[in-house]
Amino acid sequence: MTDLAPVLSAIWDQDKSWTIDTYSRAGGYKALKKALKQPPADLIQAVKDSGLRGRGGAGFPTGMKWGFLPPDDGLPRYLVVNADESEPGTCKDIPTMLANPHSLVEGVIITSFAIGCNHAFIYLRGEVVHVYRRLLQAVREAYEAGHLGKSIHGTGFDLDVTVHAGAGAYICGEETALLDSLEGRRGQPRLKPPFPAVAGLYARPTVVNNVESIASVPAIVDKGVDWFTGMGTERSKGMGFFSLSGHVQKPGQYEAPLGITLRELLGHAGGIREGHTLKFWTPGGSSTPIFTDEHLDTPLDYESVGAAGSMLGTRALQIFDDTTCVVRAVMRWTEFYKHESCGKCTPCREGTYWLTQILKRLEGGQGTMADIQQLLDTCDSILGRAFCALGDGATSSITSSIKLFREEYEAHVTGGGCPFDRAASALFEYTDAQPEEVLA
Ligand SMILES: Cc1cc2nc3c(=O)[nH]c(=O)nc-3n(C[C@H](O)[C@H](O)[C@H](O)COP(=O)(O)O)c2cc1C
Ligand code: SF4
Repeated sequence: MTDLAPVLSAIWDQDKSWTIDTYSRAGGYKALKKALKQPPADLIQAVKDSGLRGRGGAGFPTGMKWGFLPPDDGLPRYLVVNADESEPGTCKDIPTMLANPHSLVEGVIITSFAIGCNHAFIYLRGEVVHVYRRLLQAVREAYEAGHLGKSIHGTGFDLDVTVHAGAGAYICGEETALLDSLEGRRGQPRLKPPFPAVAGLYARPTVVNNVESIASVPAIVDKGVDWFTGMGTERSKGMGFFSLSGHVQKPGQYEAPLGITLRELLGHAGGIREGHTLKFWTPGGSSTPIFTDEHLDTPLDYESVGAAGSMLGTRALQIFDDTTCVVRAVMRWTEFYKHESCGKCTPCREGTYWLTQILKRLEGGQGTMADIQQLLDTCDSILGRAFCALGDGATSSITSSIKLFREEYEAHVTGGGCPFDRAASALFEYTDAQPEEVLA
């Protein structure tokens, strides 16, 4: 069985893991000192060579993104960390910032040095006030230690970090909507091109990266490219969080090499809750097509998950057992997309509304067989026609679940309602796992 690879989570169970003292005792900020002695171009090359791919969902190569910035013209350029984390099931960045915020702060400093940025922003989902406080404290500690501010460690490199709390909107995780929101506008996606690397925050060259992507940078600098490429698969290198939630004995964060399988992860997590079997699961959050027990041995890397018909996304593995009504689960996700649609484009604004209406009808037993086809037709009117990926994501669970569980949709029509006992699938009924057990 593939072993876990705790790197960002290595100190989570230590006393006050979020403080600079604990982080530094464990070797934190060593990478920063090493990085500041290197030419910035070498750091960019090292991240390119490591094969690190963006951990925010799309898996775009991080070093390549940094390399897209135009040559320095003496005017500002920015690093913006995407800490909006709002997709149903996705829950890795918030624990990272809570338990080990200095890995992110150190990553921000190294990345800013590499790309020539003197003012970096961390855009956080606003509801998580406790995480906001942790980040503010970590940034304050980093200033006090001389890791931030003017001429960091006598190098002449200046860096300020602003932690910005958004107002809580899923669309503000889309990188250009995030930039609009950060500038004080209503968060809605921008037309691309121009891409943020050319005209991002305040129309200046900007790198937008996910929390986990940036927090992985210090370990790559410290332990080296070969160490990182020694984990994972041929084109999906390194380690990453796999967030197991739902009907699993020990839900939680499992940091492991990319390419691990759900079967192996379930081995670490104690399996599906007792007396039940796996029915369906999401490999990468609610915007990725669902899988079944047929995919237990699919390597969880970008290529293998893609070849099997889904996406690795944010490695948010929501596990549902045989007591779960797939129509109801899909309806709840779709309600989320309808609520979070920003309204800028018609296919998504209108389409998510109609999808919700039809799913509610079906789930409530008032649907017809024609409604199932109508769902597919409406998804077809959204997919590839919406202005941003939120619209596409809203269709994934619907089309994949109809493909895999059409008979269950039909049973809602012929049976005049949901055949499942809701109480039996309730998540709160079975787990008594304590946080320390989950971390163990
Ligand atoms: C609706 C929507 C929500 C998103 N939410 C997030 C998010 O919360 N965090 C994140 O890092 N990326 C999110 N993304 C992806 C970002 O647009 C962007 O690709 C990512 O921040 C790039 O970072 P990476 O290259 O390090 O993965 C979202 C995309 C969409 C379309
Ligand atoms: S797809 Fe949805 S979220 Fe994206 S721009 Fe269109 S309405 Fe807004």
